[in-house]
Amino acid sequence: MAHITRRIGLSLGADICWPICYEALLKQLDLKLNIGNDTVSFDAERVEITPFNLNKPARYDVVIDRLTHWYHTSREWIKQAVVYDDLYVFNNPWSLQSMEKHTTYSAMMRLGFPIPETWMIPPKSYVESPDLKLTLSRYARLFNLGDIGDEIGYPLFMKPYDGGAWVGVTAIKNREALLKAYEESGTRVMHLQAGVIPNDGFVRCVGLGPQWRFVNYDPDAPLHDRYTMETDFLTADEQDTLSKMTMVINAFFGWDFNSCESMRSNGVWHPIDFANACPDSQVTALHYHFPWLIKANLRWSLFCAASDRKMVTNLDWQSYFDIAARDIPFDEKLDAYADIAMKRLESEQFEEFCEQHLPHMDEVANEFFASDTVRDAIHQKVESLFPEHEIESFTELFWQRIQDWRAREGGAQPV
Ligand SMILES: Nc1ncnc2c1ncn2[C@@H]1O[C@H](COP(=O)(O)OP(=O)(O)O)[C@@H](O)[C@H]1O
Ligand SMILES: [Mg+2]
Repeated sequence: MAHITRRIGLSLGADICWPICYEALLKQLDLKLNIGNDTVSFDAERVEITPFNLNKPARYDVVIDRLTHWYHTSREWIKQAVVYDDLYVFNNPWSLQSMEKHTTYSAMMRLGFPIPETWMIPPKSYVESPDLKLTLSRYARLFNLGDIGDEIGYPLFMKPYDGGAWVGVTAIKNREALLKAYEESGTRVMHLQAGVIPNDGFVRCVGLGPQWRFVNYDPDAPLHDRYTMETDFLTADEQDTLSKMTMVINAFFGWDFNSCESMRSNGVWHPIDFANACPDSQVTALHYHFPWLIKANLRWSLFCAASDRKMVTNLDWQSYFDIAARDIPFDEKLDAYADIAMKRLESEQFEEFCEQHLPHMDEVANEFFASDTVRDAIHQKVESLFPEHEIESFTELFWQRIQDWRAREGGAQPV
């Protein structure tokens, strides 16, 4: 019987609160798992940014990465560790580079998801480059933007094809506003998307491995109230549809951790933004839902480390496309896609792992979220974002919301 220590690297940016809780809760769990003939324990370590030799093995078995989407030294280090040394990382850095909003819309349209009508338009202006003039004068065709807007219908949304964080998103009410917004769009390549309007629901479904959580999202509220604390706002059928759509999107693109935004209009949930592969993880945004995230992140990363999970090297889209081509209703297709997704996310093995090795997680976590460590982690995060005179009141607000979570669902399994 050998003793093995699995190293989990945390590749962090502005994250403050969740790594503190992740590390502290892992320590408290004090895991020594009997897996096969081995005893396995786990170390979490923060990844440092240093020069690296391409020829050196990686220190980690699993990396939870929060930096790759904008910090390229880390992206390249992680990619190297995957190809050279079999590192398991979530999320997959290649999928982040290549699967922006645009690709995700068109791929899910092919699978039959009710994505609103969306057009891409060439940019209003360009950064100079040697071949630009010749290319445009030969091949760029004049188009009538107003006619495209009329065809899509108003209101519509203009947004960057690869956007995130609400940057450059404009709600457009008529033809004149469309022409004006295009004039102002500069060099960014934009989508025009039909508005899901009127709508009577906005959900963020956060997926982490084969786990998900529904959040009733209020985009008009101040930042700390956008994730509402409601838990009972979807029917069982709606939960089924939204969770399956999220799992299929995540497995399709190779994302372990992603959030899928959908809006409901006339009883149908329309996904509108689901290329969010570095989702909000801060207590200042998630508050009531924060403990769910810490637990879900621990469970999934421990499962990946303990089972030596391999990176998915082939996304095999054809098996989804074969289902898409069948002459059956969308609901049945979604069930079939979800079967593939759950296999790829190893949902059965994951459930077994949690039952066998982490039966005490809920209890330990419920205690932990009443501790000074958590209160201090909240305080540190609040301190980094809020003005001096609001630090105490917001720390208290988020702390109380977490206590509310303990009272309402602390002992129970998440959805
Ligand atoms: N098709 C749409 N119908 C209605 N509202 C939309 C639509 N697209 C975007 N919005 C609104 O604009 C916000 C930002 O757009 P989104 O696509 O989520 O961009 P980002 O990737 O920047 O979050 C959404 O949260 C929603 O409130
Ligand atoms: Mg969004």
